[in-house]
Amino acid sequence: METTFSAIKADVGSVAGHHVVPEELEESAISVLEEAKGKDIFDYFVTHCGDDLELIITHDKGEDSEEVYEIAWNAFLKATEKAKELGLYGAGQDLLSDAFSGNIKGMGPGIAEMEFKERKSNPVFTFMMDKTEPGAFNLPMYKIFADPFNTAGLVLDPNMHSGFVFEVWDIKESKKINFYCPNDLYDMLALIGAKSRYVIKRVYPKEDNPKATSQEPAAVISTEKLSHIAGEYVGKDDPVAVVRGQSGLPAAGEILEPFTHPELVSGWMKGSHNGPLMPVPVEDATPTRFDGPPRAICLGFQVKDGMLIGPVDSFADPAFDKTREKAHQVSDYMRAHGPFEPHRLPEEEMEYTTLPDVMEKINHRFEDMD
Ligand code: 13P
Ligand code: 13P
Ligand code: MG
Ligand code: MG
Ligand code: MG
Repeated sequence: METTFSAIKADVGSVAGHHVVPEELEESAISVLEEAKGKDIFDYFVTHCGDDLELIITHDKGEDSEEVYEIAWNAFLKATEKAKELGLYGAGQDLLSDAFSGNIKGMGPGIAEMEFKERKSNPVFTFMMDKTEPGAFNLPMYKIFADPFNTAGLVLDPNMHSGFVFEVWDIKESKKINFYCPNDLYDMLALIGAKSRYVIKRVYPKEDNPKATSQEPAAVISTEKLSHIAGEYVGKDDPVAVVRGQSGLPAAGEILEPFTHPELVSGWMKGSHNGPLMPVPVEDATPTRFDGPPRAICLGFQVKDGMLIGPVDSFADPAFDKTREKAHQVSDYMRAHGPFEPHRLPEEEMEYTTLPDVMEKINHRFEDMD
């Protein structure tokens, strides 16, 4: 059977400041999804990463389904009403319109979804990040699907030997390109290292992978650029990703392994600072120190007949403790730079923040030099 797995998120308000989605908001979203379960959708799971409300929905409507988007939109709206009632910070922050018009792409929420033919066993991982941007997935996706030092299967599994295809978006120019790895590896790295502009959108198995069909993605990442959509800074577009594993695709442990490196990502305070990405269990997705440091959570499900079995809170494993310790050390080091780059983002990336207003205030005091 064909199942669609949709991870849809929005920041619709939090306690206190940009920190944590309270239970009441999750309950509001659940009440809408529970109503749809068994009718328009197969199953759902609601969680949060920091101030981002995360909806995981399975259904048979395919990608870009108006029906499913409307259900998600209604869940966010109901949670927004609750957030307003409670006077939460940033109530309705990510909903850029009051009315649903058939699609939620471009309306604020972030979406990562894929349709796939269910196999005998379907492990699916949902990654959710707060206080960072979609490009934060570039490094881990590269490692999962292209780095044999991370993914033993690239060497040991004959099904994966020919590699993977990466669909990369240039989100400034609205263009996309496919890289066939390992052949195109160096070309791809030349681009995706610039992670604020070139963002991995999907990863596909190669056509000759006998265990997987090349039309079905192994991974998909949300790429909505809120700042560009809204025309002004309204918060970083904290991303989600969905990754399928096992049987000709990377193993579960290979999918999680890249997160042992607390990579530097942009986001953190006011979406304007570089900081380490810290993998945590859901209960520790509480970015309070300088509104961070940036967090990643991961829920591992088995999908069977469209139903969600699990999840396992993947980063609850103490094997990630050392990564977290390193993230603390990196946080101290980066914070010590205060308003100086490279803790603060480079000037080009500050143009979507309130910095231009500061510049305007002092502009008239500049004098020409002889
Ligand atoms: P088990 O022997 O625990 O089933 O593990 C098999 C495996 O391949 C782990 O990567
Ligand atoms: P969010 O993108 O998570 O809403 O955070 C915004 C911010 O400015 C944090 O300091
Ligand atoms: Mg927020
Ligand atoms: Mg957030
Ligand atoms: Mg945000």
